[in-house]
Amino acid sequence: MKVVRAKHAGACYGVQRALDLALKSVADGGRAYTLGPLIHNPQVVEKLSDQGVTEVSAIEDAERGSSVVIRSHGVTPQVMRAVAAAGNTVVDATCPHVARAQKAAADMARRLGSVVVVGEAGHPEVEGIVACARESTERVYAVTSPAEVPADIEAPVGVVVQTTQQKDKLDEIVSHLRALGIEPEVKNTICFATSQRQDAAADLSEQVDAIVVIGGRNSSNTTRLFDICAAQCERTFHIESAAELDESWFSGVGAVGVTAGASTPEDQIAEVVARLERM
Ligand code: F3S
Repeated sequence: MKVVRAKHAGACYGVQRALDLALKSVADGGRAYTLGPLIHNPQVVEKLSDQGVTEVSAIEDAERGSSVVIRSHGVTPQVMRAVAAAGNTVVDATCPHVARAQKAAADMARRLGSVVVVGEAGHPEVEGIVACARESTERVYAVTSPAEVPADIEAPVGVVVQTTQQKDKLDEIVSHLRALGIEPEVKNTICFATSQRQDAAADLSEQVDAIVVIGGRNSSNTTRLFDICAAQCERTFHIESAAELDESWFSGVGAVGVTAGASTPEDQIAEVVARLERM
């Protein structure tokens, strides 16, 4: 069976940077804590815990005076202030692309008064972006479809987008606002790593008989890669690690594609590729 790797797959710049910063804070002395899992990859989180990076669910659970690493998704300004106020050192691993979206939302909220955030309400990245805008206005709306845009929204309106969204979604919301007679100010904050991985996955799914998508089941960008592949290739499988591969999935398969979400490190991809090659 031929194994074809997507042209772009696996750990993105922001995730790699967060991992490096977390390990550096441990190496610099003392313990490091993360609020929630550092990345959406249970295997990596477990490994980090062995290396001294502990996941906590509340700021009070982090030892006073220790380093608290802010995840690549970013946090709300309130959480950022609370971490510092609790006497901890803030290690800000917010991905620079996410920070750009937060800054754009805050800026448009100040200048325009209404902000639409194209993204899943409740996702930590979106919560952070929304909270940055809410420092200046209550008129901030996280939406994933035109139906969620308030019918009485009034110009001027700014639009930013969750870094992992698809461009079509942004275009759909912008067209809807235009149909309401509003010409919004748009900041396309979709990150290049995401679109590269999505385009490469779509290309790959046209060339192979089956596809394996590697990444955490709690990772939204991995789920999106799965959806893109499954739309073209019926035999698409989502796994977290090589141990889950089942030989029976590939009976009669001439070529299998491999892609991976932005929180999947290189060693996990290499392990899956090696195992598939042995099949
Ligand atoms: Fe950043 Fe993009 Fe990765 S936003 S965390 S480089 S997917």
